[in-house]
Amino acid sequence: MSETRELAELAKRRGFFFPSNEAYGGTAGFYTYGPEGAALKRNLEDVWRDLFVRELDNVELEAPTIMPEAVFEASGHLDGFDDMIVECAECGATHRADHLVEDAVPDIEDAEALGPERVGELIAEHGIVCPACDADLADEPVEEFNLMFGTNIGPGSAARGYLRPETAQGIFVEFPRLKEYARNSLPFGVAQIGRAYRNEISPRRALVRVREFTQAELEHFIDPESDEPPIDRVADVELPLYAAPAQHDDDGTTETHTVRDALNEGIIGNDWVAYYLGCAIDFYERIGIDMDRFRYRQHLAGERAHYAADCWDAETELGGNWIEVTGFAYRSDYDLSKHGEYADESFTIFRQYDEPKTTERAIVDPDMSYLGPEFGGDAAAIAKELEALAGRDRSAFEGETVDIELDGDTYSIPVEKADFAVEEQTEAGEHITPHVVEPSFGVDRLVYSVLIHAHESDTVDDEERAFLDLPAEMAPTTVAVVPLMAKDGLDERAQSIAEELRAAGYEVAYDDTGNIGRRYRRQDEVGTPYCVTVDYETQQDGTVTVRERDSTEQTRVGADDLAAVIRRLVDG
Ligand code: GAP
Repeated sequence: MSETRELAELAKRRGFFFPSNEAYGGTAGFYTYGPEGAALKRNLEDVWRDLFVRELDNVELEAPTIMPEAVFEASGHLDGFDDMIVECAECGATHRADHLVEDAVPDIEDAEALGPERVGELIAEHGIVCPACDADLADEPVEEFNLMFGTNIGPGSAARGYLRPETAQGIFVEFPRLKEYARNSLPFGVAQIGRAYRNEISPRRALVRVREFTQAELEHFIDPESDEPPIDRVADVELPLYAAPAQHDDDGTTETHTVRDALNEGIIGNDWVAYYLGCAIDFYERIGIDMDRFRYRQHLAGERAHYAADCWDAETELGGNWIEVTGFAYRSDYDLSKHGEYADESFTIFRQYDEPKTTERAIVDPDMSYLGPEFGGDAAAIAKELEALAGRDRSAFEGETVDIELDGDTYSIPVEKADFAVEEQTEAGEHITPHVVEPSFGVDRLVYSVLIHAHESDTVDDEERAFLDLPAEMAPTTVAVVPLMAKDGLDERAQSIAEELRAAGYEVAYDDTGNIGRRYRRQDEVGTPYCVTVDYETQQDGTVTVRERDSTEQTRVGADDLAAVIRRLVDG
């Protein structure tokens, strides 16, 4: 069985995740996390918060998941958030047209960039058939399909709304308030963990492409002229970088470069993106990604989202396929400029000059009486034009006359006679639109990657054993307390030890059903790193055994020291 099939089977049986609404026939693209999966996902989110909010000193918000249409008109999602769809006339199945072409035509890596018309032609030229029923797709139209789920806000002639396709927009639209919170000074970062929705044409590969998922996103607002990332913090971090765009195919190799070298050698063009690629390595290691099955890959120009100036992906290898788990985008001032155009509030920030700047402004007497009664033009309008000209280019006033165009007529104005004064004005700064750097993590794809990478098997006591080698801070249960027998007071003592460990802050399971070997296997299978066994010796000398999941080695420790022992083990 393939590793993804094996994992799907384990996930269902042991309550990690399973397709939703199966009692009603199932709904493609929706998954429910069971008790083990929900705990694992929560732990992953906690590690993300610990790093991207607490350690990097950012703030977190929680915005609604439904937003009015105007937001997505401004953000570009209404027009640009499309995938190419082709529907089979024979069986009604819908497919990503660009994916069909990429799968069938070896030379084409990015069919989306070719547009629907060309993709339609390629489907016909290559005789591509419907993957569901083998019917010919040559005569079917290829169309753009917007991925947002629409809804109505309120009853009656309700306002149109959409479920957000990325959590980011909930941060961008609140920028006018967030900048006040940040006391109008850059840089500052705002994080959010929450649901995003995309009406994917072909949901697939379990948690990889679903229609409702969780993103953990950080929007870092910077002044592009003066804010630099603290590169020293990550300069020596090693990044596995998958090829430059020129070598962009699956035969390329992954080379390791430090953040510093990748920047110096121009492999990564943007300091902020490089900085976050460096910061994130710690996160992937902490959550248990197998770093031999991990790489960073730069987007091709045609692959970038409508808002992204530069983008790198983090990818994990799952069942032989490389899957994007995080996008690191330099979004420039795209989002805030757009919201600034469409909304009433200000999406700029005041950038103070180091020294106040003094500029000169020309003032021309609007009366212009020296032009005489024979002048037939609008004197005040001419004066305004002269002022504007003087502001731009004072050399225009070196000659005797200056030509002013007004309403299609040209007036030669003798400027030396104009009542012309110069006023000085001092400015403390200017309004700028901040740029945005965005690491955007797909939580579900990470949960899935962690589970697949952690899924191991070995032989214990001549029996094959499956286990999850999850890091202790990620495991749904930290300690399982098991009495050797559910009798002779061993069970009561084990229950009270379990309670003590819970009071000390651990996720603790108590299990007294079945033989002890089975109970260990059950815990191994869900990744519990430690099992504490209460046996007859416990009654005599107050010691228990602590069994370590991966090695299965057991050590005797005093029950009174147990919480401290577990703390030391968990902290490594
Ligand atoms: N705000 C930027 C953004 O949304 P994205 O690359 O479209 O960028 C970020 O999405 C991450 O969200 C991806 O790297 C992926 O992990 C996750 N993601 C996107 N679509 C998904 C889907 N249909 N199912 C599961 N995860 C998805």
